[in-house]
Amino acid sequence: VKKHPALSISIREYLSDYRQEVDQFLDLVLPEVGVNPSSIHEATRYSIFAGGKRIRPILAIATSKALGGKLVDVLPFAAALEMVHTYSIIHDDLPAMDNDDVRRGKQALHKRFGEGVAILAGNALLTQAFELLSSDDYSCDPILQLELIHTMCIGIGSREGMIAGQVLDLLTEGKSYSADDLQSIHELKTGALIHVAVYGAAILLSATPDRLEKLSDFGRNVGLAFQIVDDILDVEGTTAQLGKESGRDCEEQKATYPALFGLEKSKQMALELIEAAIAELGFLGARKERLVELAQFVSVRRF
Ligand code: IPE
Ligand code: IPE
Ligand code: MG
Ligand code: MG
Ligand code: MG
Repeated sequence: VKKHPALSISIREYLSDYRQEVDQFLDLVLPEVGVNPSSIHEATRYSIFAGGKRIRPILAIATSKALGGKLVDVLPFAAALEMVHTYSIIHDDLPAMDNDDVRRGKQALHKRFGEGVAILAGNALLTQAFELLSSDDYSCDPILQLELIHTMCIGIGSREGMIAGQVLDLLTEGKSYSADDLQSIHELKTGALIHVAVYGAAILLSATPDRLEKLSDFGRNVGLAFQIVDDILDVEGTTAQLGKESGRDCEEQKATYPALFGLEKSKQMALELIEAAIAELGFLGARKERLVELAQFVSVRRF
């Protein structure tokens, strides 16, 4: 990665370089379109390669690198995160959930391939993520590998993970909710997987308990900020910019930060979370730079 004086240029280049690395690896591990039954493999590839920022894999890569890890050792985990994330947005768009027709600048998977295939493609991506994470050519200590898999399960699951958040998100539609309710929906539905990206990479690199805790707080704060900004962009962004239809949260009466606090306060809260996140990284010294930039990107992004 070349060095540029301007932060915005350098982080953009970093994002696009590692996006390519992640995409190459995904291409390698996802079943080819020709593999039977081909419609499901066409569908999973359609959603994975429709676009996407790859922020979760890149957070995992940046965390690993900050701790002295090598790219090849974190790529399977990074790809697994993207598979799980893509499964979650495929299902999130279904008529029974957010009922959205556009995703990553293309037709949502259920619009293009039908609901049945969209449900199964989500299930397939989730399963393939764990096939990859549990594979025996994954070059890491089996104990760490098991710990990583367990941590992923908790981050995705229905007790304290993404599924819990998605359930609460649905149950809160059209209802009144407190600031605490809202925070926990957002921490769970989106924060949990972003947290796992950072925390899982730290586990892989055998970070000390003290460092694990700091990176865990970093991941948690960035994760919550990410969803607050997602809510803000739903109000302020355009469909063309976002690659998904804007203004949908209001239509669906979703629990969001702008709805509860207004736009200005929401922006302030996101910024404060990013500052709090960055404040945890002091122990990394100069190695914290990319994580700092990624956290800043989360708060200033327009897509
Ligand atoms: C969208 O996530 C869904 C949320 C969890 C907020 P991203 O904004 O990371 O979507 P892509 O991967 O870039 O398309
Ligand atoms: C999605 O939150 C969270 C998950 C997919 C787990 P949103 O419903 O706000 O995401 P978008 O706005 O549709 O991308
Ligand atoms: Mg949703
Ligand atoms: Mg949605
Ligand atoms: Mg949203």
